[in-house]
Parts: sequence; C-alpha cells; structure tokens
Amino acid sequence: MAERGNTAPLQIEEATVDFDKVTFAYPQRRPVLSELDLHIRAGERVGLIGPSGAGKSTIFALIQHFYEPQSGCMRISGQDISPVTVQSLQAAISIVPQDASLFHRSLMDNIRYGVPNATEAEVRRACEDANCMDFLAAMPAGLDTIAGDRGAKLSGGQRQRIAIARAILKDSPILILDEATSALDTASELAIQSALERLMKNRTVIAIAHRLSTLQTFDRIVVINRGRVVQSGTPAELAAVPGMYRETLTRQRKRVPASNTA
Ligand SMILES: Nc1ncnc2c1ncn2[C@@H]1O[C@H](COP(=O)(O)OP(=O)(O)O)[C@@H](O)[C@H]1O
Ligand SMILES: [Mg+2]
Repeated sequence: MAERGNTAPLQIEEATVDFDKVTFAYPQRRPVLSELDLHIRAGERVGLIGPSGAGKSTIFALIQHFYEPQSGCMRISGQDISPVTVQSLQAAISIVPQDASLFHRSLMDNIRYGVPNATEAEVRRACEDANCMDFLAAMPAGLDTIAGDRGAKLSGGQRQRIAIARAILKDSPILILDEATSALDTASELAIQSALERLMKNRTVIAIAHRLSTLQTFDRIVVINRGRVVQSGTPAELAAVPGMYRETLTRQRKRVPASNTA
C-alpha cells in the first residue's frame, strides 16, 4: 500500500497483534474475511490452521498492510497499522516464507538483506543460530558463495535456514512463519526445528502450519474457516473437543494425506 500523507512510525512497546472486526475482500470478490477478531498477546505463539482457501495467507498479507480492509482495523502494539510508515512496519515484522527464494548475490548479502550494515561477525552468529554452518562449510567460498543457478544450488531446507538466519539478524519483535508444505528430510527437519526455536524466543509468533506436530509447543491454535475463527485454544484443549482441529489431528496421525488442509 502507498503511504498516506499522515505517516508516523509504528512505535512498539508491546508486540501485540490485533485484528478488530476485519472484513476484507479482494477486488471484485466476495469477502474472504468477515469481521475477523483475532487478538495475540506479546510473546504469544499462535498457530493458524484451516482448510485451503480459509484466509490464512490473507491474514498474513493484511498484517503487512499489502491491502486495506473494507472495515475494521489491524493493530500492532495498539496502533492502527494503516497510517504508519512502510519502513517501520517492515522493521517490526520478520517473515520466514514457505519457499524462501534467494537473490543471485552472495549468501552474506542474502542474509544481510534487511540489515545492510550488519557486521560479518553478526552474520556468522546468525548462521550458527540458524544451523547453517554445516552446509556453509561445504560451500566453495562459504558465505561469499553466490546463490542461484550459476552459484550454489541450495536445497529447500537449506534455503529455509538462510531465511531463518536473515530473520535472526533482523531481530524483529513479530515473527510470521509460513510452514513449508512439502516434507523435508528428517535431518533438515530437525535442524530447522531447533533453529526456529532460537528464532522464536522472546518474539510474538504467528505461524501457518500444515503439520500439527510442529504446533505442539505453541501457546494457542486458531482454526480459521471461511474467514472466521472457528476454534481457539491450546493444543491440549482443542484435542479434547470435537471439531476441525481434532479431525485434522486424527487424520494426520493415521498418516492419511491431509488433502483439504493447506
Ligand atoms: N490475490 C488474490 N486475489 C483474489 N483472490 C484471492 C487472492 N489471494 C487469495 N484469494 C482468495 O481468497 C481466499 C483465501 O485465500 P488464502 O488467504 O490464500 O487462504 P489460505 O491461505 O487459508 O489457503 C481464497 O478463496 C483465494 O482464492
Ligand atoms: Mg495460504
């Protein structure tokens, strides 16, 4: 979204995230979110689940102010994000996307993106915390290796760890995670899980998850269906009652492909 004239920086005292009765439709479409109320405490870890098309990615897009809702508002630290500067909003939120893409630049530059003046020592520390050191050591030029077709080809799990290093370096109070849909090999999975644990520490986390196993340590799970919150509770609370969460849990434990869960 273009900035309006009345821009002021977002000032974060507490990294709370609120959707207050947000109704949103893409142009010429029916509403995707209908009076969505979602209130996330500072430091809370919330996992969003729900069928494909439920509106989870739209929630992520709105909190980054890619779109303006038709009614209601999104707040961070109690402030409406609509009039704040793009720069201050970007600084507040780190994103680890589903499929992290890298620029055709050095891995160092890729990680420093967002914090261009970070020192090499800071980048290395972020790489250690993100469990990147093993594969970086195997690269011809380490952090100076150029990413992409004519440089190092990184696996999906390696690119995800680079994205985690980038987010650790950026050190934003709010973290948005979009879990990869495709299964990773077990070694990558474990390396990513422990890197994510370090990244999530002391931040407000909102994660779209496809595998419920990754949410078991979360404070809360919010089930979205047709643009509304249909269930909200701890993993244990939701496992104890009938509903979409328990159905998905049962299906995933049977290892039946979760075809209607994006
Ligand atoms: N850029 C877009 N333009 C128009 N419709 C969209 C766009 N992005 C998503 N949608 C529609 O909005 C609904 C919610 O999509 P999305 O937020 O991606 O759901 P989820 O992430 O839960 O799968 C779907 O019906 C989808 O087709
Ligand atoms: Mg989505």
